[in-house]
This record gives sequence, C-alpha cells and structure tokens, in this order.
Amino acid sequence: MREPITILGLESSCDDTAAAVVRLSGSKPEILSSVVYGQTALHADFGGVVPEIAARAHAEKIDLCVEEALQAAGVALGAIDAVAVTAGPGLIGGVLAGVMCAKGIAAGTGLPLVGVNHLAGHALTPRLTDGLSFPYLMLLVSGGHCQFLIAHAPDRFTRLGGTIDDAPGEAFDKTAKLLGLPQPGGPAVEAAARAGDPARFAFPRPLLDRPGCDLSFSGLKTALLRARDAVVAEKGGLTEQDRADLCAGFQAAVSEVLAEKSRRAIAEYLALDPAEPILAVAGGVAANGAIRAALETVSAKSGLRFTAPPLALCTDNAAMIAWAGIERFRLGLIDDADLVARPRWPLDQSQPALIGSGKKGAKA
Ligand code: KG4
Ligand code: ZN
Repeated sequence: MREPITILGLESSCDDTAAAVVRLSGSKPEILSSVVYGQTALHADFGGVVPEIAARAHAEKIDLCVEEALQAAGVALGAIDAVAVTAGPGLIGGVLAGVMCAKGIAAGTGLPLVGVNHLAGHALTPRLTDGLSFPYLMLLVSGGHCQFLIAHAPDRFTRLGGTIDDAPGEAFDKTAKLLGLPQPGGPAVEAAARAGDPARFAFPRPLLDRPGCDLSFSGLKTALLRARDAVVAEKGGLTEQDRADLCAGFQAAVSEVLAEKSRRAIAEYLALDPAEPILAVAGGVAANGAIRAALETVSAKSGLRFTAPPLALCTDNAAMIAWAGIERFRLGLIDDADLVARPRWPLDQSQPALIGSGKKGAKA
C-alpha cells in the first residue's frame, strides 16, 4: 500500500460533531488536525442528550467542521486517501448526518469510503497514541460506554463484559444531580469526595457476587438517593461534609467494582499469553484519579502495563475515527455507497447486545 496514508475522519454519533485528519507515514501516525464542536449547551436544559436536537446540530455543523479540519491540517481534499466515518453505534439521526456527509464527499471526489464502528475508534486509540501491539485489554468507561474488550486486530474484538444498565459516567452525573452539584458530574463528585469519608455510608458493590465481568451501576445511584434522603429526613438538609461523605462513598464503590471486574478481565486476557500484557482505558471516567489509581494498582499486581490516551483522545473525537479508518483501509476493508448507518452495532458479534447501556443511546 502507498505511504503515507492520509485519512479524513468524521464523528457524529452522540453529542460531539467532529472531523480530523490523521496521516500514517511508515509506522508513525500523526494527527494533523482534530476539530470537535460539543453540544453540551444545547442539551443542558433537558438533563440528557435530546436525539432530535443532536441530529439537527450535527447536520448544521458537520461540513463546517470538515472544512475547518482540512484547513487546520493544511491538506486539500486532493491529498486525502479516504474518508472514514462513524457508521454506528449511536443516535441514528446523528450517525446519518455523518454518513451522508461522508458519502457526499466520497461521491464528489471519488475517494474510498470507510465505515468505522465508534467503539472500535475508542478501542484502537491506544495504537494511535502509544503504538500498542495486539492483543491488549481495553476498558471503555464513559458516560455512554462501559465494557471490557480484548483487541485482537483492527476488526476483531472479544467483549468480556459490560454494564447491564447505566454507564459509570452516567452514574457520576446522576449522583451530582441528586446532591445539587454541577454537570458534568464526574469532576464535581471527585472534587467533593476529596474531603469525604468513604466509610461513612455503606454502598453496595453491584454484581461482585456474580461471576464474570458484567457491571451494574443503577442500584448504586438508588442507594445514594436513599442515603441522601435519610440524612435529609434526620437533619433537614445536607451539610458540605454530608455531601463529601456521600461522594466519597459512591466513588469508592465505583472504583472497587471497576478494579475487581478488571482483575477478572485481566485473568481472562492473560490466558491468551500476550507477549506484552497491557490494560488500556479510554473514556471520560478514566480522568478520575481514584479510579485510575485503582486500575493502575490492579494492573501492576498482575504484571500488566497500564496506559490511558490523553483525555482529548479518550473522549469522543474524530481523530480516533480517522485512525481506525487507516487501520481498516490498510487491510482493504473499504465500503461503498451502500454503507448503512446503524443505531446498534456490537463490536463482538458473538456476544448478545448490551441493551440499554449508557445515557447516550445504545452502545452495544
Ligand atoms: O467520554 P466522555 O467525554 O463522553 C461520553 O460519555 O461519551 O465521558 C463523559 C463522562 C461524563 O459522564 C462525566 O461525568 C465523566 O465522563 N467524567 C468523570 C470525570 N470526568 C469526566 N467521571 C468521574 N470522574 C471524573 N473526574
Ligand atoms: Zn464514545
């Protein structure tokens, strides 16, 4: 295959409209540009992402975003080798906006089209940032995703387990809401937890009593609500210390569950006898210091290297889609004008879909 390979990537599966240009020269990938238009303000009044608002905003912004990414990269469309686009899973109106835009560019220029699974974009990012070799273990933890994957190849993943209800970021956001803390909840809960006593409230450790790597976070949120209401009933309100203790207890429960499930996922992964065992994490929740420390400890104890891409590449972006596009393009995995936008698209087709997981739509 001709080198370098330069790919334009588009992402619009959730609440970020993004475009990026990534180039691979020899074995060295380089992000030439990565533009992200977030939609947080548009959805702020609704307590979650409103699919119709998201879809319209993507349709309005996506071409602008592409132009900006090409300009920032200093690359004309003529120097692009292919257009990669998130073809699912996600909110279908948004996915369609990206797919239609990519198809339009491909039709107008004759460039090849590469459909990318959004989750594969996240899962392949550590190869872009750290050059990881297959197979590696991956934990995706964000407001929309929570799953353990073994990455074997750009188009081959084994899902070891995932959340059966809320994603952990979603649980952090709901916790913040219940305690009157600002959104996004993760950073606010983490900050409050610093002054808290994690042992004051006894929160459950969901699904630890069951074998396997599946997770659940919705019961934890209910337990927090009950604990909050009990304090309010007793004292008539919450003090700063009560809030801090509730946050610390909640965060400790999430950390412990993620650490224990990681231990199990690591055991399954090590059975493959990987040459360089690695646990990589991605997603906004990986920014949490306590969770990160817990995962680092578990990795070190099992002899695994621990790695996390920089936060801007952990959260939704198009550089990861362009990179996954390069990986597929190199393998000759190219699509045509029949490329379908898919609301559900499990990475591991051998596993049943994780129905209902994540606040931002089905991320099977
Ligand atoms: O990956 P991301 O930007 O978006 C998707 O959900 O796709 O993740 C955002 C989520 C939010 O739920 C946010 O509360 C959570 O990540 N988050 C955190 C922290 N920073 C962001 N959760 C816990 N601790 C943090 N420091
Ligand atoms: Zn994502």
